[in-house]
Amino acid sequence: MYTKHFSRAVALTGGVLALVAGAHALQKVSRVGRYLYTDDGNRFFIKGIAYQEQGAASTDPNNPFSEPSTFIDPLQDGTACKRDIPFLQQLGVNTIRVYSVNSSLNHDDCMSAFSAANIYTIVDLALPGNGSIDRLNPTWTTNLQDQYINTINVFNKYDNVLAYNVGNEIIVDPSGTGAAPFIKAAARDIRSYLNSVGSSALVGYAAIDGDDNWVLPLAEYLSCDPTSANNGSSAIDLFGLNNYEWCGNDSPSAYSGTNGNFAGYNVPAYFSEFGCVKNPPRLWTEVGTIFSQPMSDIWSGGVAFSYFPAESNDGEFGIVTINGNTVTTNDDFGRLQAQYGNVTFPTVPSKSSAGTTQFPSCPPNNSSWLASNTLPPTPNDNECQCLASTLSCQFTPKTDNTSVIIGSLIDFTCSTLPSVNANCDDISGNGTTGSYGRVAFCDPATKLSFVMSEFYEATNRAATSCDFSGNATVNPNAPTSASAENAAASSCLSNPNAVFTPSSPASASGSSSTGGSTGSGQSGSSGNKNAAESLFESKALFGVGIAALLSVLGSALTLA
Ligand SMILES: *[C@@H]1O[C@H](CO)[C@@H](O)[C@H](O)[C@H]1NC(C)=O
Ligand SMILES: *[C@@H]1O[C@H](CO)[C@@H](O)[C@H](O)[C@H]1NC(C)=O
Ligand SMILES: *[C@@H]1O[C@H](CO)[C@@H](O)[C@H](O)[C@H]1NC(C)=O
Ligand SMILES: *[C@@H]1O[C@H](CO)[C@@H](O)[C@H](O)[C@H]1NC(C)=O
Ligand SMILES: *[C@@H]1O[C@H](CO)[C@@H](O)[C@H](O)[C@H]1NC(C)=O
Ligand SMILES: *[C@@H]1O[C@H](CO)[C@@H](O)[C@H](O)[C@H]1NC(C)=O
Ligand SMILES: *[C@@H]1O[C@H](CO)[C@@H](O)[C@H](O)[C@H]1NC(C)=O
Ligand SMILES: *[C@@H]1O[C@H](CO)[C@@H](O)[C@H](O)[C@H]1NC(C)=O
Ligand SMILES: *[C@@H]1O[C@H](CO)[C@@H](O)[C@H](O)[C@H]1NC(C)=O
Repeated sequence: MYTKHFSRAVALTGGVLALVAGAHALQKVSRVGRYLYTDDGNRFFIKGIAYQEQGAASTDPNNPFSEPSTFIDPLQDGTACKRDIPFLQQLGVNTIRVYSVNSSLNHDDCMSAFSAANIYTIVDLALPGNGSIDRLNPTWTTNLQDQYINTINVFNKYDNVLAYNVGNEIIVDPSGTGAAPFIKAAARDIRSYLNSVGSSALVGYAAIDGDDNWVLPLAEYLSCDPTSANNGSSAIDLFGLNNYEWCGNDSPSAYSGTNGNFAGYNVPAYFSEFGCVKNPPRLWTEVGTIFSQPMSDIWSGGVAFSYFPAESNDGEFGIVTINGNTVTTNDDFGRLQAQYGNVTFPTVPSKSSAGTTQFPSCPPNNSSWLASNTLPPTPNDNECQCLASTLSCQFTPKTDNTSVIIGSLIDFTCSTLPSVNANCDDISGNGTTGSYGRVAFCDPATKLSFVMSEFYEATNRAATSCDFSGNATVNPNAPTSASAENAAASSCLSNPNAVFTPSSPASASGSSSTGGSTGSGQSGSSGNKNAAESLFESKALFGVGIAALLSVLGSALTLA
C-alpha cells in the first residue's frame, strides 16, 4: 500500500563494504531517504539484539499482556556490561536495544564499553506503568515529556545512541488507534528537543505486529505530514516492527505480505524484535533473508529477541543464562552466531542515490483507523506549574506514592462534577476527535487539583468541598473569587494549543514530583482486553517491551 508514495531508487552500482569503525568515535548514523547510512557513505543495517533482563511481570488482573511492572536498567552496571560484551561480539551484533533506563543512574561505564566495542544502542524512553503513554487512556503530558527529556539529557553525551524510541507497542488493536496522535506528538516534541541540544539521534517507535488494517495506517501515520506540506517535523525517523512471523525452518515467503506492505514506505524500517520460538529449534535462518535482497531494499535490519532470559506463554527467548559473572550460552546462541556471522551487508542503494525523505499526507480515518490528523499541543511545564499554584483547591497527598490514589481520585471527582453542572472536559483529550482540553497536557496531579477546584468553585467554596477524604486543602494564596481564579487560570494557560521546542525540566523530577498517573487499575475496557488476548494468541508477541497498561483516569473520564 505504500508504493504510491515511494519510487524506488535502487542503484545497482557496487560499493565497497567498509564496516571498519573509526578509531575513537563511532560513526554517526543518519537517515537518508528511507535508509540509514554511516558518515563514510555506507549503508547501515541494525544487526541487533535486545539487551534487558526481564522485570517482574505485572500481576494486575486487568493486565493481559505480561508486561513488566519493574525494570532492571541494563546500562548502569559496568561490570555486567563488560561481562557480556565478549558474547555480544561473538554474536557479531552492532546494536543493542534496551527498553527502560533510569536517568538518575550513571551509564558511563557501559556506554563507553559498548562504544569501544562498536556497538550502538537503541534506547526506549518509556518506563513501566506510569512512565509510558497509557494505551487505554492515552495522553502526552508534562511529566512524561520531562521523563523522556531527563533520559535524553543523560544519554546525549554518548556517541553510540542510534535512536530513542518514544513508545513500544502502545497500540495493540484498532480500538486503541486513537492513541496515535499522542505518540506522534511525542515524536514531534522529542525530535524538536533533540535538535535543540544538537543531537542527531533518530526518533523511533516500535509497533506490535497485528492486522494490516491498523498496523499499516499506524506506520504511515507516524511518518506522515498532517499539513500535507512534505514537512517531517512530526515524523519518526525509524519505524520498528516487532515481527515474529518466521518460525522454525520457515521460508522467505513468511515475509512476503509484510514486504509488500512496506515496499514503498518513506522512512527507514526494521524489525525491532524478531525470533519466533513457537516451532523449535529456533534456527535463525530468517537472518540471511532479512539482510539480503529483496528485503534489504525495504528493511534496515533487525533486533533478535533476546540476549537475557525472557519468557512468555510461547516459550523462552533468551540465548544465555547468567550466574553472577558467568555467562552460559545455549544452542540458540550458537545458531544465531552462525547466522549473524554469515551476514554481508548489501551496499545498495548508495547514499547518493537514496534520495530525500518524503513525508506524505496522513491516512484518512475509517472504522479500523481512529486517529485524528489534529495532534495535541506540546506539554508546557511553565503553564502547568503556574496553573497548579493558582488553583483554589489543591491535591495535597499525604504520601509520595501518589500513583496509587491519583487515578481513583480523578475518577471520583469527574463522576461527581456533573451533579454540580461541571465536567472534566478541560483535562480530557481525545485523539479520535482531535480535541484536547486546555489542561490535558498537564501532569496528573495538576489535573486532579484542577477538577477538585472546579468542584470547590461549583459549590461556592463550601469548606467541606475541598477535602476529598483528606487528600485536598484550600490554597490560601488563590485568587479570592471564582471569576478571579478563572482569569488567573486562563492567564496561566495563555497559549494552550502551542507547538514549540520543549525545554529541559527545571529539576530532575520537574513538575511531576507529586504526579503519578497509574490509576486504580479499573480499566473498564474488557473489550480491549479480549481483543489484545486474541492478538497475542494469533500473530503477535509481547516482548519485555513496555507499554502502559493501567487505566490512568478510568472510565469516568470518557464523559463528554
Ligand atoms: C532510579 O534509581 C534510583 C537510585 O537507585 C531509585 O531511587 C529510583 O527509584 C530509580 N527510578 C526508577 C524509575 O526506577
Ligand atoms: C482503513 O484504511 C487503511 C488504510 O489507511 C486500510 O488499510 C484499512 O483496511 C481500512 N480499514 C477498513 C475497515 O476499511
Ligand atoms: C515544518 O513545520 C514546522 C512546524 O510547523 C515549522 O516550524 C518548520 O519551519 C517547517 N519546516 C519547513 C522546512 O517548512
Ligand atoms: C553462509 O552463507 C553461505 C553463502 O551464502 C551459505 O552457503 C552458507 O550455507 C551460509 N551458512 C549458514 C550457517 O547459513
Ligand atoms: C472520521 O472522523 C470524523 C471526525 O471524528 C468522524 O466524524 C467520522 O465519522 C470518521 N469516519 C469514519 C469512517 O469513522
Ligand atoms: C506504592 O503503593 C503500591 C500499593 O500500595 C505498592 O505496591 C508500591 O510498591 C508502592 N510504591 C512505592 C514506590 O512505594
Ligand atoms: C485519599 O484518597 C484515597 C483514594 O480515594 C483514599 O483511599 C484515602 O483514604 C484518601 N485520604 C488520604 C489521607 O489519603
Ligand atoms: C510515576 O509515579 C512515581 C511514584 O508516584 C513518580 O515518582 C514518578 O514521577 C511518576 N512518573 C511520571 C512520568 O509521572
Ligand atoms: C473519543 O471520541 C470518540 C468519538 O466521539 C469516542 O467514541 C471515544 O470513546 C472517545 N474516547 C475517549 C477516551 O474519551
